[in-house]
Amino acid sequence: MTIETMRSSEVKELLEKIAGFDKAGGDERVKKIVHRLMHDIFQIIEDFDVTPEEFWSAAYYVGELGANGETGLLAPGLGMDRYLDIRQDAEDEQAGLAGGTSRTIEGPLYVAGAPISEGFARMDDGSDREAEVILIKGQVTDDKGAPIANAVVDIWHADTKGAYSFFDQSQTEYHLRRRIKTDAYGRYAAQSIMPSGYGCPPEGSTQKLLNLLGRHGRRPAHIHYFVAKPGFKHLTTQINISGDEYTFDDFAFATREELVVDAKPVEHSETAAKHGVTGPITEVEFNVVLVATDKAELHERHARRRALETTE
Ligand SMILES: [Fe+2]
Repeated sequence: MTIETMRSSEVKELLEKIAGFDKAGGDERVKKIVHRLMHDIFQIIEDFDVTPEEFWSAAYYVGELGANGETGLLAPGLGMDRYLDIRQDAEDEQAGLAGGTSRTIEGPLYVAGAPISEGFARMDDGSDREAEVILIKGQVTDDKGAPIANAVVDIWHADTKGAYSFFDQSQTEYHLRRRIKTDAYGRYAAQSIMPSGYGCPPEGSTQKLLNLLGRHGRRPAHIHYFVAKPGFKHLTTQINISGDEYTFDDFAFATREELVVDAKPVEHSETAAKHGVTGPITEVEFNVVLVATDKAELHERHARRRALETTE
C-alpha cells in the first residue's frame, strides 16, 4: 500500500534543501533541474512503492553502468539519442532549416582525427581476406542540387565481427575510419569491407536492463557519417544496409526509412576503377544533401566527450 508522503511539508522542505534553494551560491538552472529530478524520483518511489532493496539495486546499477563505460550505450537503448534528434528536427523545422539528408544518432564509438584524403580513401587494412569488399560512394550537394566541393565526409564503421577499431585494440589504428574531402563535383568514394551488425555486450549493464524489458540489444549493419562544410548545417547521420534482420528493429532507434541503403554487388564499378580498384565489388551509394545556414554554431558538431577529440 502506498502512503502519500509527497504532499507532506517535510518532503517539500527536504526537496528544497536538496536543491540548495535556501543557499545563495550555485547555479540556478542546476538547482531547478535537480529539484525537479529528485521530486520525480521520489514520486516514482511513491507511485510504485519502491522498496529499499529495489532502490539500492538501482543505485548500484548506475555505478556499474559507469564503471563498465556503458553510459553512451544505455542512452540510445533508452531512446535518449533518438529523442534529442526528434527535438532537434523540430527546432530545425521552426528555424526554417529543415530539409536535406536526415540526421540520426552518433552513437558512442566515434574517434576523432582519422586520416584525411582527397576524393577517395581505402578504409580497411587488407587483413580480413574473407570480408566482402565494398565501395562506398556518393555526392554531397546543397538542397538545390549544386555540388559541394571540399566538404569533409567523416566515415566510421565496424568490422565483420561488429567491432570498432580503438575500442577493439586488436584492430590497426584508425581501421575503418577515414575523412574524405569531396572533389570539385562534390563526390567522395571509399573502398572498405562490409560491416556486420552488432549487439550490446551480453554480460553488460545495458543488456541487463534490456533483458528486464524483454528487449534485444542488437543493431543492424550500418555506416556512420559526419558531413561538414562551413556555411552548411553539420550533419550527423548513418546508413543502414537493407536486408539485415535488424534493419527496422534497431535497439538504438537509429533507423530512418530514407537512410536505408541497398548494397549492390557489381561486376565492374566505374567509380572503383577510377580509383584503381578492379574486380567485382559491392557498391553502397549514399548521396548527401546539406542545408545552408549562416549560423556558425550549426556548422560544427555539438560538443560531447569523444575519443581523442581535443576541446579547448
Ligand atoms: Fe555503430
